[in-house]
Amino acid sequence: MAAPIDEAKLNAFVGKMLGDLGGAMSVPTVRLGVRLGLFDALATGPATSAELAQRAGGLHERYVREWAMAQAANGYVGFDPASREFSLSPEQAMVFHHADSPVYLVAAYEMVAAMVEAEPKVEECFRNGTGVRWGDHAGCLFCATGAFFRPGYVNHIVQTWIPALDGVEAKLHAGIRVADIGCGVGFSTLLMAQAYPQSQFTGYDFHAPSIEEARRHALAHGLADRVQFEVATAKEVPGRDFDLVTMYDCLHDMGDPRGCAKHMREILAPDGCWMIVEPMAGNRPEDNLNPVGRLYYNASTMICVPTSLDQEVGEGLGAQAGEPKLAEVIRDGGFAHVRRAADGPFNMVLEAR
Ligand SMILES: C[S@@+](CC[C@H](N)C(=O)[O-])C[C@H]1O[C@@H](n2cnc3c(N)ncnc32)[C@H](O)[C@@H]1O
Repeated sequence: MAAPIDEAKLNAFVGKMLGDLGGAMSVPTVRLGVRLGLFDALATGPATSAELAQRAGGLHERYVREWAMAQAANGYVGFDPASREFSLSPEQAMVFHHADSPVYLVAAYEMVAAMVEAEPKVEECFRNGTGVRWGDHAGCLFCATGAFFRPGYVNHIVQTWIPALDGVEAKLHAGIRVADIGCGVGFSTLLMAQAYPQSQFTGYDFHAPSIEEARRHALAHGLADRVQFEVATAKEVPGRDFDLVTMYDCLHDMGDPRGCAKHMREILAPDGCWMIVEPMAGNRPEDNLNPVGRLYYNASTMICVPTSLDQEVGEGLGAQAGEPKLAEVIRDGGFAHVRRAADGPFNMVLEAR
């Protein structure tokens, strides 16, 4: 006989599911709000739907009103029933408007859209065990990924992560050679180049369109003289005697992270440092059953594991591999010392020598 239904548990669970579904259904409306400049327009002050439509460049009021009520129901904007005005609080503005805020989350909505679009490809992977090439995921996943990680990098790389490494910051100020591997569209490389003008930086990634985008960013920031971007797989990065190798949120995406670790050992100077930034995770899977682990496990199912399984070896570490597993992989490459230098809610920073 089926177990009896506990009404209280059922109500609590359905309540949770309604919240989750509301979040899922807000994905297209949030993306529209970002693209149409509605959040930005609201950041300049409270507005009725008619004022907001005007402020955003003359949009159709009826659509703007429905959108604004949806965001009010989401709790993403405020609504004053007396004045009929919508508003963006300072905290909401940090999430939806201030691009350099550490919690600017709009790019996550682009990632969700790309994940939904890639569903049929990943479904096929479940059946046959293959992967999805990084460049074959849907939409502009690589742009969305760069934009998703950028706020964390803007607020942490120079301020806390590099200073947490043993003696590296002083060397960067003096002038060293740095390889940023798996650099994507290059935000991490450019942030480091801006902060340490005496050092030389080369960003490498195996995805050519990302490298083209990174080169455009370098030109736009006037850094093209000190920063280079080259197409290369991690295991084929040329050169020797790098003083610092950085990998931001990409080691777990690689098919052969152990082979990559071996190659890092070969291209580093004997006293060089390898900095590995990885998604935050607990040591055991059960430690990751929390809001951040939830985001990462879902993204990992749709993006990270298929990306790794598409490559040689196909280790499939996943975004929640955790420090003990990552340290084992890194040691396998010949690194005697691995330690956690820093961490935060979204990332952990490992230092290998
Ligand atoms: C999640 S993205 C992170 C990109 C960038 N570091 C950032 O933080 O925005 C992972 C990156 O790893 C790159 N990648 C994956 N496997 C690679 C490999 N074997 N060699 C070089 N790059 C690789 C992808 O092209 C992608 O740009």
